[in-house]
Amino acid sequence: MFITLEGPEGSGKTTHIPLLAEFLRQQGYAVLTTREPGGTAIGNQVRAILTNLENTAMQPRTETLLFLAARAQLVEEVIRPALAKGMVVLSDRYADSTLAYQGYGHGVSLEELRTLLRFATGGLCPDCTILLDLDAEVGLRRKTQCGEWNRLDAYALAFHQRVRQGYLELAAEQPQRWKILDASQSLDVVQSALRQVVLDILRASSTLV
Ligand code: TYD
Repeated sequence: MFITLEGPEGSGKTTHIPLLAEFLRQQGYAVLTTREPGGTAIGNQVRAILTNLENTAMQPRTETLLFLAARAQLVEEVIRPALAKGMVVLSDRYADSTLAYQGYGHGVSLEELRTLLRFATGGLCPDCTILLDLDAEVGLRRKTQCGEWNRLDAYALAFHQRVRQGYLELAAEQPQRWKILDASQSLDVVQSALRQVVLDILRASSTLV
């Protein structure tokens, strides 16, 4: 089972994923967590280029290809082998981040991005995607207060507002794959909602096999 978490800056994915993984392990599931960009030795080197605050000259197409390069490596090296072993894979971001950030955020053609995404992932799609939805301004404020500030966070507020809107449009296009949670609530409330959503999905899938 391949589950991805998506959301704008400061939506809390990185805090929630380890807590969710631990809970699922206690329930007896074999869980692998991963994050994007990165998650492999090669992907982490690409991540350093992408997040480096000095790389102000980076063009949207360059940025897109670097994200895809990191993802191609992650899919082959980590995600597909874990899925083949029957594990639950929880990924902090995946292909929808590229559509939201490079597509809706920067205006790179969604159609071209979808073709490139199929190439980079070999067509691997998540079974379920959870959107931790949050107002862009609130999220950026959270990140400046307690997060690690990177080159992508420094894009203008309007960029991050387009990203959030993009996520909502993507979710509306495929409501059967997406679940939307309100990430403005407290950490405990969001974590219990996440646990419930994921348990429901896992239980539903085990009754299907
Ligand atoms: P990170 O510090 O992991 O942010 P977060 O904790 O919010 O996930 O940095 C990842 C950044 O990369 C984040 O700003 C979103 C961006 N991103 C894209 O623009 N496109 C992509 O395809 C991916 C995977 C991430």
